[in-house]
Amino acid sequence: MPVTALFPTRLYLAKLAPKTATPLNAQLLKECAQLRQDDVAGQQWSKHNYPGGFTSYGSAHRMHLFSPTFADLQRKLDRHVRAFARALDFDLTDRQLEMTDCWVNIMPFQTAHSLHLHPLSTISGTYYVKTPKGCPGLKFEDPRLDRFMAAPPRRAPEAGWETVQAEAGKLVLFESWLRHEVPPNRVRGERVSISFNYNWF
Ligand code: NI
Repeated sequence: MPVTALFPTRLYLAKLAPKTATPLNAQLLKECAQLRQDDVAGQQWSKHNYPGGFTSYGSAHRMHLFSPTFADLQRKLDRHVRAFARALDFDLTDRQLEMTDCWVNIMPFQTAHSLHLHPLSTISGTYYVKTPKGCPGLKFEDPRLDRFMAAPPRRAPEAGWETVQAEAGKLVLFESWLRHEVPPNRVRGERVSISFNYNWF
């Protein structure tokens, strides 16, 4: 086939080993629930920006600096972010990629997170703590979408979009310019994830 692919969009998908993820997630889940209860500023922010759910994005967004459990998660993520940076061929001579933000997302039934990107960051991602069966994944938009001038429709029903399934213990890394969303949660169970940004310094 005389066709080649240029400039592919890379994602990094990995899973923590169950013997690591199971106790870590149990502790993270406890702290996420506690934070939702205590974080009044986050409750207010979520009311306006995350209807039906709770996110600490607008309040407690540096959890890795305040909780040893989140700091432990950060150490585990650092290794994967370095591996992804190598795959992306970043030249980080005398520089470092560092976690700048790390926050909690709790999505009950019907909560959604609309299309967005992560400005002022290099690599962003999500780690899944609790994923009830049937909960939504992470939906990425084809970054060329706004350049599809006069393009015929594709046959695939979800052309232009790719969804990565959410699964407890799994982490997803992407370059922060890549737009994504989380469709509404259609199941009764709460979906709990931790999102984060890395920037280079
Ligand atoms: Ni995001």
